[in-house]
Amino acid sequence: DQKLDHANIILTQLESAETLNSMEVAKTLSINHQDLVGCLLQLESANYIKTEGLKQDQLILTDEGNTILNSQSGEYEIYQKIPEAGISMVDLQKLFGIEQVPKVKQEQGEKKEKQAEDPKKKQFDLGFGNAKKMGYIKMDKGVITKIANDLPDKIKLELSSLKTIQLGSQQAKLLIERKLAMISTIKYFEIKKGIKYAPNFREQFAALTTEQLLSGEWKECEYKSINLNAEGEKISMGNLHPLLKVRKQFSQILIGLGFEEMPTNQFVESSFWNFDALFQPQKHPARDAHDTFFCSDPELSEEVDITVRDKVKAMHQTGGVGSIGYQYEWSHEEARKNILRTHTTAVSSKMLHRIAQQYKEKGYFPKKYFSIDKVFRNETLDATHLAEFHQIEGVVIDKNASLGQLMGIIREFFRQIGINKLWFKPTYNPYTEPSMEIYGYHPVLKKKVEIGNSGVFRPEMLAPLGIPEDVNVIAWGLGLERPTMIYYDIRDIRTMVGPEVKVETVRSNAFCVFESK
Ligand code: PHE
Repeated sequence: DQKLDHANIILTQLESAETLNSMEVAKTLSINHQDLVGCLLQLESANYIKTEGLKQDQLILTDEGNTILNSQSGEYEIYQKIPEAGISMVDLQKLFGIEQVPKVKQEQGEKKEKQAEDPKKKQFDLGFGNAKKMGYIKMDKGVITKIANDLPDKIKLELSSLKTIQLGSQQAKLLIERKLAMISTIKYFEIKKGIKYAPNFREQFAALTTEQLLSGEWKECEYKSINLNAEGEKISMGNLHPLLKVRKQFSQILIGLGFEEMPTNQFVESSFWNFDALFQPQKHPARDAHDTFFCSDPELSEEVDITVRDKVKAMHQTGGVGSIGYQYEWSHEEARKNILRTHTTAVSSKMLHRIAQQYKEKGYFPKKYFSIDKVFRNETLDATHLAEFHQIEGVVIDKNASLGQLMGIIREFFRQIGINKLWFKPTYNPYTEPSMEIYGYHPVLKKKVEIGNSGVFRPEMLAPLGIPEDVNVIAWGLGLERPTMIYYDIRDIRTMVGPEVKVETVRSNAFCVFESK
């Protein structure tokens, strides 16, 4: 292994030397300095050596300088071509293949045309000037002669021993001026012994292997130290969406308050459970195609339990429990229309019916239910509205349930998500009376915003489902999206749900921990 050989040569050299220069080491190993760097890094990471990066300015040959070094300087070429007896300028130029251009007499007013300069002539002139300056030749009455015989090519000699020329010297300046040499900065290392220095390098293993363990070889091995501060590789895995994190928190709070989750795994519901069972008249505008998604296949649901159906029908048509109903012809067909549920109260009505069935067998018992799941409305999409969103709903079935208790539960629920300032405003729902909109203080918008709806279920709704007259049911509902957007500071709902969601945001979103005040 050549790298190992190199490493050992360096370590052996260090045994007797205080410091080494990486440039010289590279030279003795006859490898590129760049190739040595890898070897030094390995030795340093194992603490065999310590290096210090240094810089040094150096005089190096230019291309032109190199050409001269390989042949001769221009002035020396001219010097050599001059015969013993001397030579005229015209004849000397001829020796260099320079043609004599006759001088054209200039006409009056004619612009002097610049003659394209012959590069050979230019070269010659430069060399000639230098030959005179350097004391190779002289010119006397038109005759050019050598000043002395057997002069050396001074420039070529200088270039061949460039290393010995001081950087700031006159000699260096001249070479740089003539563009034969230039200054270049080289980077190299000063190498010293490291804290684990040893004259022989032992390769360190990155990991303990089964083979090393089995053979007992591990006792002799050296291992690379572990960087405990290194960050682990990012694991690609599933991440909870902010909506799911907030949803989880809400259900934890409700479970903590003694609520039990209702089964919400049915997005398609019959109009009966979504509207009719909630004493919502069939002409109600909410059933309008603008708000509700109707299903086309299958268009109608199976007939519900005839007993409930007929009781609901009678309540709509003629009333009961002190009510005169809506006084209209109730249609089975309309109630059977399949829709995507528009609120989670569709689940609540079904559960109330189920509880009433259980009362027949077991008798009365109080119950607290909640649900959190998707609902659908055919709405215009904008920054705060989507056609599908989530509702959270709580239902308390209790003989002692009252409006005061409802307000108390709602206050406690919101207190646990950090909302203390609440306002209740009377409103109308077909299925609750009294009904209250819930308002909370928005800390960012600094104003009251509607955060939920609530009420006491009407006897006209409860009676047909079979809930005894002395049992009260109170309920409230709210959306999941708005609190999530406030919590995670999401300004546009379309960046939270749908194709514009950034997976990275979902990955990096913080935990949701509500702080109650
Ligand atoms: N279903 C109502 C809505 O969609 C919320 C609500 C639930 C109101 C329970 C009263 C009682 O806004």
